[in-house]
Amino acid sequence: MQIDKSKIYFETDRLIIRLLKPSDASDIFENYKDKVYSKNIPNLPYPYTLKHANDFIKKNKSKINRKKDPGIEFAIFSKEENRVIGGASLNHIDFKNKKCESASCLSKKYWGKKYIYEAKLEIYKYAFNILKLNKIYADVFTYNLRSKKHLEKLGFKEVGLKRKDIFHKNKFIDLYRLDLLKEEFKYKDLKKNLLS
Ligand SMILES: CC(C)(COP(=O)(O)OP(=O)(O)OC[C@H]1O[C@@H](n2cnc3c(N)ncnc32)[C@H](O)[C@@H]1OP(=O)(O)O)[C@@H](O)C(=O)NCCC(=O)NCCS
Repeated sequence: MQIDKSKIYFETDRLIIRLLKPSDASDIFENYKDKVYSKNIPNLPYPYTLKHANDFIKKNKSKINRKKDPGIEFAIFSKEENRVIGGASLNHIDFKNKKCESASCLSKKYWGKKYIYEAKLEIYKYAFNILKLNKIYADVFTYNLRSKKHLEKLGFKEVGLKRKDIFHKNKFIDLYRLDLLKEEFKYKDLKKNLLS
């Protein structure tokens, strides 16, 4: 299935969720230069530079329409701040088995303000209704309990532990695997419970 880029634009009360643009590089750099991100995200360089942000945007532009292992990187843009405050992705989109991986990252300044739910509710609605996927899964470092909790609030269930799955910063890390099935995703209820 070819992903229709024109359908990737969602507007909520505070946010615009859209594809990344080259001009987002300075916001991405500002967002991800804190050490906390490389601690929690595999393969994220530290120190993080503007070049890393530019390369990230370039790499993700081609990811969307490749036949093998496509993925979508969404920019989370705050209307009030007039900047990209974070990102979320649907990776390893597998149309045959109707599943994909979810990942996300917000600039620290915007944690705890429900932006991530506002963005992800639209992204997951798109994944289930437009891409017609059946399952979204996520892998979280076992020490990243904040991330695990935010997924659980969105309805994800812990389904397993991937022991010593990643060699990160010179040690093996266990990962929790969580997933969310289409029939469990209650958009309206979540919106009411998480955002009102
Ligand atoms: C993951 C992320 C997107 C979540 O967004 P957020 O705005 O911080 O999420 P929230 O604050 O709404 O939710 C986190 C929940 O975890 C809770 N929490 C925080 N630290 C916790 C801990 N050590 N143990 C358990 N729960 C914890 C918070 O209290 C909150 O729950 P509550 O609303 O019921 O109080 C954001 O923290 C982030 O970008 N982190 C860095 C990148 C990252 O780790 N990405 C995920 C990689 S898998």
